[in-house]
Amino acid sequence: MARGRPVFVCQACGAVHNRWSGKCDACGAWNSIVEEASSAPLPGGTSARALGRGRVVALESLSGSADEAPRLVSGMAELDRVTGGGFVFGSVLLLGGDPGIGKSTLLIQASAMLARSGHRVVYVSGEEAAAQVRLRAQRLGLGDAPVALAAETCVEDILATLKQSEPPRFVVIDSIQTLWTAQVESAPGTVTQVRASAQAMIRYAKTTGACIVLVGHVTKDGQIAGPRVVEHMVDAVLSFEGDSGRDFRILRAQKNRFGPTDEIGVFAMTGDGLEEVHNPSALFLGDREPDAPGTAVLAGLEGSRPLLVEIQALVVPSTLGTPRRAVVGWEGSRLAMVLAVLEARCGVRLGSHDVHLAVAGGLRVQEPAADLAVAAALVSSLLGSPLPLDAVFFGEIGLTGAVRPVAHPGPRLREAARLGFKRAALPPAAAEAAEEAGLTALSVPTLDALVARLAA
Ligand code: TYD
Ligand code: MG
Repeated sequence: MARGRPVFVCQACGAVHNRWSGKCDACGAWNSIVEEASSAPLPGGTSARALGRGRVVALESLSGSADEAPRLVSGMAELDRVTGGGFVFGSVLLLGGDPGIGKSTLLIQASAMLARSGHRVVYVSGEEAAAQVRLRAQRLGLGDAPVALAAETCVEDILATLKQSEPPRFVVIDSIQTLWTAQVESAPGTVTQVRASAQAMIRYAKTTGACIVLVGHVTKDGQIAGPRVVEHMVDAVLSFEGDSGRDFRILRAQKNRFGPTDEIGVFAMTGDGLEEVHNPSALFLGDREPDAPGTAVLAGLEGSRPLLVEIQALVVPSTLGTPRRAVVGWEGSRLAMVLAVLEARCGVRLGSHDVHLAVAGGLRVQEPAADLAVAAALVSSLLGSPLPLDAVFFGEIGLTGAVRPVAHPGPRLREAARLGFKRAALPPAAAEAAEEAGLTALSVPTLDALVARLAA
């Protein structure tokens, strides 16, 4: 292919098309195809074999195991938990999140911690001038940390900067969307540029053993090349979530070649930067109202960490032909299932009611163990009778109405006991664990049993 011949690239998924069209056949996105100049092919004959790079090593000859992958520990416990115990040398991590959520703040703080403990750290900012980054660091009380700052966007310049002195151990690129490489002709921010730039940084990490964090803005409409195409290339993808109206932030691993993907890190955004929240249950249960019908506390689990959150439901007679079902922080399809089981197995009629369900504090709950807490909140709202303040709920509801056991009841119950709860409504199999944790077990073998108890 001659250099410069235009190709049409979907900015959402990176698929290449021969001609422009309104819809990408590969991912179904509308209006996402943009004309880009194709990159030049590698000069003929420079295959890996020709360069003598095709080399194999015996697996058993490699020292250490995956468990002992050498890691760079940041010292921020909430961050290290999500990376699986620190950044792995020679790996590339993508940190995604909405603009303004606090990605730069988090990484400046991590950079400062690492630099203070003697690692060479380079923070490359393509969005802010070095002086602005320094100003922010000073405001966070990190002005004295020996972090090397660079304001560059050209990949070749960045690599030259990194090679100038002693090789860094930790490099932050803020953000991947601002990078461009002279190797391809497309405009910065397009899929082709983002991919080529990310590839160059990944190659750098693999050859030098540095840990690289790429920041990626997630855009709602996907018009600007999202970091989606980069996700497949990097070793780990973390997302930083939260809504800007609230001050807490959740760091979550979506992909991690070197660690679990179900751990979360919790931070609070304060005037002095991000603060680690070591006791998130207390935060999420912060402002509970006594005597409010329709709220139930879920003794949940995020990764290995127990997390107590309040589930809120509001059930009101509907004025609409098709009643409204609104869910925030949980799956809509799961709510539909719980409603169907309540109707079919327990005779609770909600067909002419609007149902609103929310996880308090803006947290997103994914586990099926929340079913029982959701059902309890729904029934409590429908009956207008508050649930006891000292009770927690967990259990998965099957289509037959049976309450099924969930994983790791012990940590959930111990966390509930620690926070002063006295009773737990749970699947019978977990009753023993409740007694061990010092809680009174309210065994609910079926959803019907729970409804009968609440209606009594
Ligand atoms: P930032 O890290 O720049 O977000 P991102 O890099 O993800 O775009 O964070 C910006 C927001 O954080 C901004 O709205 C102000 C707020 N903030 C604080 O509340 N306290 C602080 O100490 C800092 C540095 C930022
Ligand atoms: Mg930023």
